[in-house]
Parts: sequence; C-alpha cells; structure tokens
Amino acid sequence: MKAFILDRYGKADRMRLGDMPDPELRDDDVLVQIHAAGVNLLDSKLRNGEFKLILRYRLPLVLGHDVAGVVVRVGSRVRRFKPGDEVYARPADGRIGAFAEFIAIDEGDVAIKPKALTMEEAASIPLVALTAWQALLERAHLQKGQKVLIHAGSGGVGTFAIQLAKHLGAIVATTTSTANLDLVKRLGADIAIDYTKDDFEHVLHDCDVALNSLGTETLHKSLRVLKPGGKLISISGPPDPGFAKDIGASWMLRLVMRFLSYRIRQQAKRRRVSYAFLFMRASGEQLREITSLIDAGLIRPVVDRVFPFESTKEALAYVETGRAKGKVVVKVR
Ligand SMILES: NC(=O)c1ccc[n+]([C@@H]2O[C@H](COP(=O)([O-])OP(=O)(O)OC[C@H]3O[C@@H](n4cnc5c(N)ncnc54)[C@H](OP(=O)(O)O)[C@@H]3O)[C@@H](O)[C@H]2O)c1
Repeated sequence: MKAFILDRYGKADRMRLGDMPDPELRDDDVLVQIHAAGVNLLDSKLRNGEFKLILRYRLPLVLGHDVAGVVVRVGSRVRRFKPGDEVYARPADGRIGAFAEFIAIDEGDVAIKPKALTMEEAASIPLVALTAWQALLERAHLQKGQKVLIHAGSGGVGTFAIQLAKHLGAIVATTTSTANLDLVKRLGADIAIDYTKDDFEHVLHDCDVALNSLGTETLHKSLRVLKPGGKLISISGPPDPGFAKDIGASWMLRLVMRFLSYRIRQQAKRRRVSYAFLFMRASGEQLREITSLIDAGLIRPVVDRVFPFESTKEALAYVETGRAKGKVVVKVR
C-alpha cells in the first residue's frame, strides 16, 4: 500500500511517499480503507523524535493518529463491525499509521462515524475530541455552572473543548488572537480574551478548571486564575509522576518527570489547586458518546484546510505554523 514513511527521526523533510506492506489483521482488528486522516502536532513531535523515550516505535514508521474510512475486513473475534461500515478512530499508540491507504485497528478503539459528517470532517475529530473528553469529563469532572478556562480556543483541541464544555453547562473562557474572536464566540465561548491585547491573568479569577495547551508561562499564569480546589490540567507538559506511573515508566524516567513538574506541582500545592498532565488515549467507547453528540447536532467539526494525500508533508508543515483554525485533514481517497 502507499504510505508516507518515516525512516529516521528528525526535524527536516523526513517523510517519503513509498510502499509499505499491507497491515497485518489481528483477531480483534478491523481493516480500514482510509478515506481521510487528521493531522496533529503529535505527528510532528513524533517525527522530531521528541517522544522516543515514551513511545517506542520501530522505524520505518507511518505517522497519522486520526482515521476515517470504510471497514474492508474484520478479524475472527470482531463483533461490533462488518465490511462496509463507515468508521472513525484514534488508533492506539503503537498502532498508528493514518497517512496510508489502509490501517488495522483494534475494534475497541473504533466507532461508527457520525452520519452527517464527510470523511474529512470525521477524520478531524477523534484525537482532539478524546483529549477534550478525557480532560474535561474524566479528569476535571466539569459540572454545570463551573467556570473553565480553555486556552487556544481556535485550535484543534480548543474548538472541540469549548463546545463540549458548553454542552456540559459550564461557563467557558478562552484565549485566542483578534482574527479568531468571532470563531470562538460562535462555538459558544462566554468570555473570549484576545491575547494580543489582554492578559488573561488580569481578566479571569476563581476558575474551577483550566486546560493548558500552551507554554510554561501560560501554565503558571493559569494556576493563578484558579480558585482553591480548582484543577489545572495540561496537555502540553510537563509530565508528572502520575503520568509516569500510568505508562509504567522506568525509575529513571519517573525521576525525570518528577523533576520536570516539581515547580508547577509545588506552586499548585501552595495555592491549594491540583495539577495533572494528561496524555490522551484511544477509546472507541468514548468515541461512541462523541458520535452521539455530533449526530444530535450539539458539537460540530471545525476544519481549516483539507490537503490532498500527496501533500501530507505540507499539511504537517501547516499545522506546525501553530496558526490553524480548528483541524487540518488529508484526503486519502
Ligand atoms: N497530551 C495530549 O494528549 C495532547 C492531545 C492533543 C494535543 N496536545 C498538544 O496540545 C497543543 C495544542 O494542540 P492543538 O491540536 O489544539 O494545536 P493547534 O490546533 O495547532 O493550535 C493552533 C491554535 O493555537 C492558537 N494559539 C497559538 N498561540 C496561542 C496563544 N499564545 N494563546 C492562545 N491561542 C494561541 C492559534 O490561534 P491564533 O492563530 O489566534 O494565535 C491556533 O488557532 C499541542 O502542543 C499538542 O501537541 C496534547
């Protein structure tokens, strides 16, 4: 099958379009003919080798963490899906490879695609939707009437997280630049802060939850807008001891993560708020709930650009500019 192949980690123009063997189908797998693939910063970070210690991939590797397509074969133990089903998924770590014609995915990580969405729209959803779900529901237990700060509201995670938080009945504050203020308001943000003009730290106070996806300075400022008992969840680091434990990290890696998050954990403690790093995981079950919200018209995808398959590297480069409004997708067929 045709695929974008990464032979060696590195920042430069590393991926090449070439031939890879068709994926091997395990008993619990569905084989999906890929129609569209979502592009994520995780793909560039992996390509750069930034996740080498955490995600141990063997090269050559096919990147791509978001898939929409059609099931063409199923393994002997598969019960939920049959050939012809239109599905979407965030394949599990260790089994990624959406920048290709086919992928085998454990059926537990797959869901039927939302009916009204095109393949490109569906491929924009899984990774960011599951991230928002796991941050706001699983970790923060966000409740009706609570105030949540969602950074980078116009980005992939932000555009979904704003809508999910509104659906949960929260009061949503977000940060973005002038050009994207209308977008985040249309998505439901109650308080839209233009970071080119205002410092969110001077606008917000007494938040219950903050979702950080930006750098260290924003992370530390976010602590200061939380009320005691509030929760700071970061998806852009630093990793903490809880995460180290979850992934069964070596004692050395545990020590490194303890050290990296020491300052933020200490400051959080002093302010009587909690800090947690989240690295999202695949889940077909959560994706089914997300499908229901989309089918009910409660959440809609925000797709910035769709690139042809041949331009997968350009799609990745566009995401790396950090200026995407919502999601970037590759149309595979
Ligand atoms: N740990 C996990 O499980 C996990 C999961 C998903 C994502 N992530 C990470 O989370 C981060 C965000 O991911 P993403 O996919 O949402 O990124 P993205 O879609 O590439 O974000 C782009 C958006 O960020 C906005 N932005 C840039 N600088 C900003 C600032 N200083 N303040 C407010 N908004 C700003 C931009 O808006 P303007 O153009 O208006 O500036 C743009 O719309 C990445 O580092 C990604 O790797 C982690």
